[in-house]
Amino acid sequence: MYNFDLAIDRKNTSSVKYEEMGLKFGSNDLLPFWVADMDFKCPDFMIDCLVKRANHGVFGYTKRMPEYYGAIINWLDTRHNITVKREELEYGPGVVFLLNMMIRKFTNEGDKIIIQTPVYYPFKAVIEGNKRVVSDNTLVFEDGKYVMDFEDLEKKASNPECKMMILCSPHNPVGRVWTKDELRKVGEICFKNDVLLVSDEIHYDLVYSGYEHTPMINVDEKWNKNIIICTAPSKTFNIAGLHTAFCIIKDEEKMNAYRSELGLLDLNRSNSFSREITQAVYENGAEYVDELVKYLEGNMNFVYDFITENIKGITPYKMQATYLMWMDCKGLGLDTKDIDKLFFEDAKIALDSGHWFGEVGEGFMRINIACPRAMLKEGLERLRDAVNAINK
Ligand SMILES: Cc1ncc(COP(=O)(O)O)c(C=O)c1O
Repeated sequence: MYNFDLAIDRKNTSSVKYEEMGLKFGSNDLLPFWVADMDFKCPDFMIDCLVKRANHGVFGYTKRMPEYYGAIINWLDTRHNITVKREELEYGPGVVFLLNMMIRKFTNEGDKIIIQTPVYYPFKAVIEGNKRVVSDNTLVFEDGKYVMDFEDLEKKASNPECKMMILCSPHNPVGRVWTKDELRKVGEICFKNDVLLVSDEIHYDLVYSGYEHTPMINVDEKWNKNIIICTAPSKTFNIAGLHTAFCIIKDEEKMNAYRSELGLLDLNRSNSFSREITQAVYENGAEYVDELVKYLEGNMNFVYDFITENIKGITPYKMQATYLMWMDCKGLGLDTKDIDKLFFEDAKIALDSGHWFGEVGEGFMRINIACPRAMLKEGLERLRDAVNAINK
């Protein structure tokens, strides 16, 4: 019903993925599989919603109406089994914005904040940018998948200087959907040590067959005042350019602190389009997401099979969620600089280099598979040819 194979020319639309390649990779002449947005055209109901609003022609100060909150509450309930009240929900332009706000409001300069590398690199940047200190509970690769080191987590959380943990759930880039048992251990450790748990669940809708995302506030109710969830419809519906994030805060005092800061920054009003699209996708987008996830799963299998059959030295990991695939390139026998060169200069494909995600990401690459399959095929053929050329 939706045509995910349709190629869309995104050049000259101020797209970061296309227009910032020069800055990041030294040339705009690459096929982009980096920054986490999708190359699919939005379904008609989303475009109609924005056109209808645009056709009205007046874009004055805008309020988030009860229907906006109702749509979010209903999505959280029907898709994620999360029960929230209107007053436990609040807007934020982006998840990274929200993480910044939580760090500023609920920790002090010099405090330690736990993250689990390899992880989405803005986590480290927002911690250090706010003069807090990263405490790294590095993930461990065991029996074919990444797992948490709970002994180390306990040690880091019990340090009295540690005040917060930022959890990535599902995890970017390793693609794990944490089990309820794993989340229970995280929740327990944070609660016991009075470490505020901020759970970034932006990838929560994009979960593959056989796996189920557990929202952190559905693990044990008694911890809920110690948990903040930051999420958005932006990955799911490809609307990062429309600033549509929100947070769930069950502790009234913390919510009031966040809201007053949002008001102070004069961000408590809404962009007219952001407000409309959030309501529209959460009211009408369920069927689209189901189709999208199926297509993405097909892409994941395609990339996995292509690399396994055609490219020696690269081991792709099938992810349980997200459209970001983590690949171990250490078998190529190259150092980090030469792996970057192979992908960016020889194959002319732009991917997120593993070392951006922390030291443990050295020797890895992350490929964004959310594009028409033909584009993936072209990128992978370029990679195969580049690898063959260095092996000659
Ligand atoms: C884990 C995670 N959090 C946050 C973001 C970005 O969120 P936003 O654009 O809402 O700031 C991303 C984007 O890739 C992500 O992977």
